Amino acid sequence: MKPLWEALAAHRDAIAALSLRDAFERDPGRAERMSREACGIFFDFSKNRLTDRTLECLLDLAHASNLPARIEAMCRGDRVNATEGRAALHVALRQPGGVLPVDGVDVMPDVLAMRARMADLAHAVRSGAWQGHAGHPIADVVSLGIGGSALGPRMACQALRHLAAASPKVHFVSTVDGTELARVLAPLAPETTLFIVASKSFTTQETMTNARSARAWLLASGASEAAIAHHFVALSSNARAVAEFGIDPAQMLGFEDWVGGRYSVWSAIGLPVAIALGPEAFEQMLAGAHAMDLHFRSAPLEANLPVLLALVGIWNTDLLGAATSAVAPYNECLALLPAHLQQLEMESNGKSVRLDGTPTPRATSPVVWGNTGIDAQHAWFQMLHQGTQMVPVDFIIAIDAPGTLPGHQPILLANCLAQAEALMCGRTADEVRRELAAAGLTGQALEQAVPHRVFGGNRPSNMLMLDRVDPQTLGALVALYEHKVFVQAALWQVNAFDQWGVELGKVLTARILPELTAEAGSRIPTSARTHDASTAALIARVRQRLA
Ligand code: F6P
Repeated sequence: MKPLWEALAAHRDAIAALSLRDAFERDPGRAERMSREACGIFFDFSKNRLTDRTLECLLDLAHASNLPARIEAMCRGDRVNATEGRAALHVALRQPGGVLPVDGVDVMPDVLAMRARMADLAHAVRSGAWQGHAGHPIADVVSLGIGGSALGPRMACQALRHLAAASPKVHFVSTVDGTELARVLAPLAPETTLFIVASKSFTTQETMTNARSARAWLLASGASEAAIAHHFVALSSNARAVAEFGIDPAQMLGFEDWVGGRYSVWSAIGLPVAIALGPEAFEQMLAGAHAMDLHFRSAPLEANLPVLLALVGIWNTDLLGAATSAVAPYNECLALLPAHLQQLEMESNGKSVRLDGTPTPRATSPVVWGNTGIDAQHAWFQMLHQGTQMVPVDFIIAIDAPGTLPGHQPILLANCLAQAEALMCGRTADEVRRELAAAGLTGQALEQAVPHRVFGGNRPSNMLMLDRVDPQTLGALVALYEHKVFVQAALWQVNAFDQWGVELGKVLTARILPELTAEAGSRIPTSARTHDASTAALIARVRQRLA
């Protein structure tokens, strides 16, 4: 593999002077050659600092990494999550049927049965057949979950909100900052509220704290313990912890441990989506993701959207040194997509050790960040255009926007196309001079103004264009990024499906919490003496303030 990375580096040096502006002027076929379309997504990667040869070198690397075999291994349920000894089989969750044996046992009957249970439950809540303990239909659903148990469903509910029923209203609370749960619950009536406790492990401190407060809120309204069955549903892989919490396992929708948190929106964790938008819309999302799975498995690498998106990312990160990567949807519906992708990419590939335990010799996940492009261009795009760091951008647009107002959509789309063009073309000193002269500026005043108005250009971006944000296309878009992450992990040789890096903070929280809450005068647990001076002083300060 090393010689191929070295060949890429040599190629990068050979094309260091590449000007995208010149490349487009010289080569009228560039945009067409560097665009692909699949599953309702048009992908133009021509505004990246690469050539046809770059693509060949990247594809050589993908082939040498046995990428097609690795894709097959994941999709057929091999234990690709080696550090946890299990499969990563989110593709099964969106498979419409068929047979998929894992360790000799077909997983599809359980997957389909769970999908049917979700649909029944969603129908019951939406139709009013599911009633609170006092016999009222459910008016509000509050989903309690964090990370992968919140970001995907919340993003999908927001993206497809134009399809949402007026009732029940679906709310999400992830933080353990109690002001948020209190704010959400304040206007709600306990007898018409259904809580969904979404936690794969059912041990996550933030979620369990919120679940306990929700239960206390229900009981404080005069409801009996027996009422809990009417107002709590659990989505989890841990039936024992669900029962210990006091939720009847019959009220639990389960999923297998081969569903990773950040890949779990397709599992029972998607229940809030099915309730908000209807199970039919949820199934269309699955169908869109499944279409992308089929494309990923069958399209040749050079025509394969997730593979190309991944390779372009590797080029920008590892060869051109981009430390971060921005996502800018020009679409209000997709406002929460950057947050979902942040977890997907950074929790999956934010690793510095390879599968064999050796340090990775090159950069892995960039910092992924972003928000809606139209807001961002009035906030942080300045840095993208003229800052000292190169930040590749994924622009995402949808042509139709159901419910938009006359005249708005062309303005929105024009802004997006303009930003991508501006990043790529820039504006030279001569162009600036001509513009300033035309505006009447001369002499020293003109020359002083020039450097501030020059745009270096040559800044890379991808354009992902959808016809509209509908369940199918959203499913395909999210699956596209999931598979992008898988491809990058394969080339970086890291495990995309574990997240050991989140553990230490949890351990230290468990140690610090009793130190903050121990009563005044009581002996502070001995671990207080094991902290560094800064942390110990901060603990003392917080303790004093909380007292
Ligand atoms: O702490 C990180 C993490 O484990 C994520 O990987 C996961 O999505 C999230 O917490 C929530 O976990 P759970 O669904 O088990 O509550």
